[in-house]
Amino acid sequence: MTLKNTADRWGAVSQSLHWLVVLLIATIAVIGLTMTDMSNGPSKIKIYALHKSLGLTLLTLVVLRLLWRIYAGAPKPVEGTPHWQERIASLTHWALYVLMFALPISGWVFNSSSGYPLQYFGLFNLPKIAPRGEDLAQLSHQVHEYGFWLLLALVVAHAGAAFYHHLFQHDDTLKRMLPGGRRNVRASGDVGAAPVPADLLPSASATSEHSHAD
Ligand code: HEM
Ligand code: HEM
Repeated sequence: MTLKNTADRWGAVSQSLHWLVVLLIATIAVIGLTMTDMSNGPSKIKIYALHKSLGLTLLTLVVLRLLWRIYAGAPKPVEGTPHWQERIASLTHWALYVLMFALPISGWVFNSSSGYPLQYFGLFNLPKIAPRGEDLAQLSHQVHEYGFWLLLALVVAHAGAAFYHHLFQHDDTLKRMLPGGRRNVRASGDVGAAPVPADLLPSASATSEHSHAD
C-alpha cells in the first residue's frame, strides 16, 4: 500500500490517521461523559487532566490530518455513486472536520474562561486562549456539549453509510479505508485508469467471477 492516497484508495497515512482519530475520540468521549459525575477529589482532577491532554493530542492530529488531506487529496468517488450521495458524503466529511476542531477548541476556551490551569500530560503548561468570564464559559461549555452530540449523530450516520455500502451495495467504500484487501474491480472508481493487458486476462467469465468473489 502506498503512503499517499491514490485515485481508488486511501493511503496508509490517511488510513492510520482516520482510525487513530476514531479511537482517540471514543476514549475522550467516554472519559468526558463519566468524569463530570465523579465526586471531587484527586482522581477527578487526574481524569479531567487526562481528558484535556488527550483532547489536545486530538487537536494536533486533526491539524496534521487536514494538512495531509490537502496535500494528498482524496480518491475518486466509488463508481456508480449518485451525485446527491457524493454531495452528502462530502458535506458530512467537512462537517466532521469542523467538529473535530470545534470540540477541542471549545474545551480549551471553556477551560481558559473558567480560569482553570492547562497542562499537557504534566509536561508543560499551555496558555489561556480566552479571557476569564462567566458568559464565555457558559457559551463555550454549550458548544462543547451540544457539539459533542452533533458529532455523535454525524458519526452514526457516517459509519451507517459505510456499512450500508459494504453490506448492501457490495462496493469498496469501506475496504478502501482499511489496510490490505483486494479491491472490487467492478465497483472501483478507476477501472478504466489501469487497463490490464488482454493476454493477462484469463477469460471474460473468469474475470466477472473474480469481481463477485472479491
Ligand atoms: C475531541 C475532543 C473532545 C471531546 C470529544 C470532548 C468531549 C467532552 C464531553 C462529552 C464532555 C462532557 C460534557 C458535559 O456533560 O458537560 C466534556 C467535558 C469537558 N471537556 Fe471535553 N472534549 C474534548 C476535548 C477537550 C479539551 C481539549 C478540553 C480542554 C482543553 C476539554 C475540556 C473539558 C472540560 C473542562 C469538561 C468538563 C465540563 C464540566 O465540568 O461541565 N475537552 N468533553
Ligand atoms: C469519530 C469518528 C469518525 C470520524 C470523525 C470520521 C471522519 C471521517 C472523515 C473526515 C472522512 C473523510 C476522509 C478525509 O477527508 O480524511 C472519513 C472517511 C471515511 N470514514 Fe470515517 N470517521 C469516523 C468514524 C468512522 C467509522 C466508525 C467508520 C466505519 C465503520 C468510518 C468509515 C469511513 C470510510 C469508509 C471513509 C472513506 C469514505 C470514502 O472513501 O468515500 N468512519 N471519515
